[in-house]
Amino acid sequence: MKIKERAIVSLLCAVTICVSWSGFMSRNLPQDQRPCACERCLSEDDPWFMKRFNKSVEPFLSANYNLSEDDFSWWKGLWGEKTKFGTFRKLLDKVFLMIPPSPHVLEPSPDRCRTCFEADVGARTTHRVMYPESSVDLGDSTHFLMAPFKSIDFEWLLDALNTGYNATPEWIVNRKITANKDLVKIINPVFMRYVHDMWLEKEGYYPSTGFLALVLALHMCDEVSVFGYGADSDGNWSHYWEELVDKMVKTGGHPGNTEYEIIQKLHELQKLKFYTGF
Ligand SMILES: *[C@@H]1O[C@H](CO)[C@@H](O)[C@H](O)[C@H]1NC(C)=O
Ligand SMILES: *[C@@H]1O[C@H](CO)[C@@H](O)[C@H](O)[C@H]1NC(C)=O
Ligand SMILES: *[C@@H]1O[C@H](CO)[C@@H](O)[C@H](O)[C@H]1NC(C)=O
Repeated sequence: MKIKERAIVSLLCAVTICVSWSGFMSRNLPQDQRPCACERCLSEDDPWFMKRFNKSVEPFLSANYNLSEDDFSWWKGLWGEKTKFGTFRKLLDKVFLMIPPSPHVLEPSPDRCRTCFEADVGARTTHRVMYPESSVDLGDSTHFLMAPFKSIDFEWLLDALNTGYNATPEWIVNRKITANKDLVKIINPVFMRYVHDMWLEKEGYYPSTGFLALVLALHMCDEVSVFGYGADSDGNWSHYWEELVDKMVKTGGHPGNTEYEIIQKLHELQKLKFYTGF
């Protein structure tokens, strides 16, 4: 637990996905039936990719999504917390009174190209993946994708977007943030479990926020470019915008090497374009 906390607090990984899409007139489309209007669309052909990629997994929670108790137990185990399922449900019900009960996700279509960039590269719409310890103020048009790791993250969300979060623990640094409540989405614990089970083959405690955002991008976008990811040759996960303060943390509870190898493999298979930050 100690190590996990330290890892989380030290690796304040704020990840942004910038999503933009362009509508194309149908006359610009080639004759054959293409799933998207990009130069390349995400193809579902490679066995390595298809063994991992499951487009049926819902990326976001909605008010009427029925999380199974088994999935809830997995998620609860991340922090070894004791919250009961019923308590968790009630908390979620409250959250969905504040944020949209059914998250809008742009569906694939032959007449649009949904492109995603990771990291702070400018584009029309920015999706920022955060959790309380990595939270920052967001502009009015930025989508806040919350990666929940424990029940108090929901309590924090309810308060931090309103009057401010006053309860313990003290390592929750940001007690009040500005963000557009209509643009908040909660990453589905089932999606987190899917990334851990299918993509990381259960290595490490759980996926890093960055890796989670990357798989999320593969689900939300036809074309993905990745910037500033991965550990350096010493195994430190510095971010390109800062030096990692505690070098001993390395990748914390996250299986950094595995994640890095998967990103490289996805690049090789042309499922995304990978630009290292180092
Ligand atoms: C894909 O995800 C859906 C929804 O979570 C699940 O029911 C299904 O079993 C998964 N398929 C595979 C092959 O894992
Ligand atoms: C969730 O479960 C309730 C009651 O068991 C049911 O009425 C509802 O349709 C389910 N929702 C979904 C999205 O399956
Ligand atoms: C990576 O961490 C090691 C200690 O674990 C340190 O000696 C080294 O300088 C770090 N490298 C970078 C580029 O920060």
